[in-house]
Amino acid sequence: MISATQAPSLCKAYEPYFRVGAALSSWLVKDPELVEIVCRHFNSITADNQMKPDSVLNLEGTLAQGDPCHAATDFTRVDALLSFARDHQLSVRYHVLAWHNQTPVWFFKKDWENDREAPFAPKEVILARLENYIRDVMQHVNTCFPGVVYTWDVVNEAIEPDQDGPGLYRTRSPWFTAAGQDFLPAAFRAARRYAAPGQTLCYNDYNAFEPVKRDAILDVLKMLKAENLVDTMGMQGHYLLPHLDIAACETAARAYAALGLKLQVTELDIHCNSDDEAHVAALAEAYRSWFAMIKKLVKEGIPVEAVTFWGVTDADSWLPGFRKEPSYPLLITADRKTKPAFDAVLREAEL
Ligand code: G3I
Repeated sequence: MISATQAPSLCKAYEPYFRVGAALSSWLVKDPELVEIVCRHFNSITADNQMKPDSVLNLEGTLAQGDPCHAATDFTRVDALLSFARDHQLSVRYHVLAWHNQTPVWFFKKDWENDREAPFAPKEVILARLENYIRDVMQHVNTCFPGVVYTWDVVNEAIEPDQDGPGLYRTRSPWFTAAGQDFLPAAFRAARRYAAPGQTLCYNDYNAFEPVKRDAILDVLKMLKAENLVDTMGMQGHYLLPHLDIAACETAARAYAALGLKLQVTELDIHCNSDDEAHVAALAEAYRSWFAMIKKLVKEGIPVEAVTFWGVTDADSWLPGFRKEPSYPLLITADRKTKPAFDAVLREAEL
């Protein structure tokens, strides 16, 4: 294992195929060694949290404005990351415009009431708020940081056929309670209106390889595609080491591409709860065979815009907190050394 600051560049190795990205936390860009690692190995970044609605929306400003359809925004955190990206010549995938999670409860409520029990605002008000929010974010980003963002996660995790019974959608989402399934095309229509030329619009979801969910996503993507609203399918890619089904990932990727969509893998990590020798080797083999699969698709002509890791080193992964057990899911150790998985992915690029 060598220091990640010394290892050959991952993104250079994959330049003929796709961008290689990572999700960053705000603290990470203040650590010079981590910045060196990011700039060496990644040519695309996203924010793990700073670009989400709860990081942008501002309740006090909204109440002061007094407009029932227009929420106030505060771009301090967004701008910090976009400035970092611009200054280091990194492209950005913006995550995320519309999501049920990490959107403040008041955004959905009548009179902007900050109370879970308060009544929802009427559907037409919610859709106007959505349009205004998307316009404000996209215009701000594209005016102040032209050319920095290349793709937008317009809607995240809205399709969940398993958890909510019949139907395609995650009906427990406040978006559905407040506006029904129309919020999804409405979000994409707004994003299409305000996107800069060349920016792609992405639908993003987890377990997008799983057949029942895949087919539900395909149905919704067909509807969006018929109106030319979506360009890219974002397969998140949160996998578990013993259960990574690469054949299912490949089948799903081919099915999304067959709709005429580009692909992105937006949140790649492989949960692995030990760093003993056997697990380290198994992780390396899992990553190697997954990258071999995605590279094969690109060689066949399937457009893959980017593969983005959900974190830079194991120290900043969300998985230990979420799984409540140790996790060693990325290519770089917590002490910033490259793992055998890193070497395996790098070698795979050269084959
Ligand atoms: O900001 C507060 C802070 O003020 C407080 O002191 C601290 C105490 O726990 O919590 C902080 O908020 C946390 C936030 O991350 C920022 O660190 C939240 O509790 C925590 O829930 C939140 O987790 C994020 C999670 O999304 C929430 O949905 C993860 O960092 C982030 O990696 C994760 O990312 C999601 C993608 O957006 C969508 N796909 C799944 C992926 C993993 O869950």
